[in-house]
Amino acid sequence: MDHFSLIDGVMHAEGVPLPRIAAEVGTPVYVYSRATLERHGQVFREALAPLGTNGQEPLIAFAVKSNPNLAVLRVLQRQGFGADVVSGGELMRALAAGMAPEKIVFSGVGKTDAELALGLDQGIGQFNIESREEGRELAALAAARGQSAPACLRVNPDVDAKTHAKISTGKAENKFGVPLMRARETFAELAALPGLNLRGVAIHIGSQLADLEPLETAFAKVGALVADLRAVGHTITHVDLGGGLGVPYRRGEVLPSPAEYGAMVARATKGWDVQLTFEPGRVIAGNAGVLLTRVIRVKRGGNGPPFVIVDAAMNDLARPALYGAWHDFEAVMPRGERMTANIVGPICETGDTFATDRDCDALVSGDLAVFRTAGAYGATMASSYNSRGFVAEVLVDGDRFAVVADRLDAAAIMDAERVPEWLA
Ligand code: LLP
Repeated sequence: MDHFSLIDGVMHAEGVPLPRIAAEVGTPVYVYSRATLERHGQVFREALAPLGTNGQEPLIAFAVKSNPNLAVLRVLQRQGFGADVVSGGELMRALAAGMAPEKIVFSGVGKTDAELALGLDQGIGQFNIESREEGRELAALAAARGQSAPACLRVNPDVDAKTHAKISTGKAENKFGVPLMRARETFAELAALPGLNLRGVAIHIGSQLADLEPLETAFAKVGALVADLRAVGHTITHVDLGGGLGVPYRRGEVLPSPAEYGAMVARATKGWDVQLTFEPGRVIAGNAGVLLTRVIRVKRGGNGPPFVIVDAAMNDLARPALYGAWHDFEAVMPRGERMTANIVGPICETGDTFATDRDCDALVSGDLAVFRTAGAYGATMASSYNSRGFVAEVLVDGDRFAVVADRLDAAAIMDAERVPEWLA
């Protein structure tokens, strides 16, 4: 459920008509709904709450990569969320949003020494180590500071998540984690290092999962590994089950709910007796945001449908160009007529196509429209290709809204560049 709906024929975000945001902030602009974020956060949390141990709820570490906006992080921080970060930049954002260091988990295959040191300096709650090499480096850095880094070993279960190849992370050929067959020896080696408090296992098999079965298969492998590790004397107190739960991108599409996910996790983790961590991103933020755009003009097609050229482009919302992803496209003030169109942006390559042969609301030059489900992996994946700058972001709360990220125009980006003296 989200809070973007028609009220008297005009699409609103909660109580704010989208034309008002377009008039005051301009387009394209990402619009997030606080009520939707909070609802998704609460539903997810309630689904997992029964899995707590010792009176403690599981740690829910929001995947910052899905939406790193400080105001969005703040909404979730106020709900008790922690953060899953994958770079020094994301770590700084989580802290700036007020997230407690002990609720921060640091994932990623390529953490640099500087990033590991930053995590140690900030006293974060958990490092998810993705290789023997990284484990040794972290141990050395921590030992040199007289610290013992709290860590989990990320394993690669070789399970097909049945999602887009570019966002699958748990197959043997993917770069993530340590292969299961080497997990036991790697764990034993790293657990013996003085700078590490290796206390558990982590996993994440992919994103936008529409089926719970691959997750359950992967979790069963983790359960077996935990039992094996304990059998040889390791103390396992933590397991991080990652993120990945998918969301509906098309109206009417039905995906497993957080409650169904929670029930599956309860089944899969029965008797583990560990503190569980989850790293959801998309399921919290995806349907809590839209990309609001204006039609520049409608151009007659060659032998196909007309081109609806909008002022948003692949640099603002990359998912359709990168993954062939579908985003519902709707008029802000629909007139009740339909058209079949190719929805495209102004960028000079054919990849800048949001949809082909799409049945959508009839639109003319100047109309406003939205791409839905743009709250996750939207603004965060933007670039400034074609010198288009970065779009603004707005957070709505009831009948008020605030600009939570300024538009960075081409001039602002140019300010960071210079021509060397020897070219003057
Ligand atoms: N934890 C780890 C270690 C991850 O790598 C990811 C996502 C997540 C958690 C969050 O997954 P989620 O719950 O959001 O599915 N740009 C792509 C998605 C890439 C996801 C990468 N990892 C897209 O637009 O579909």
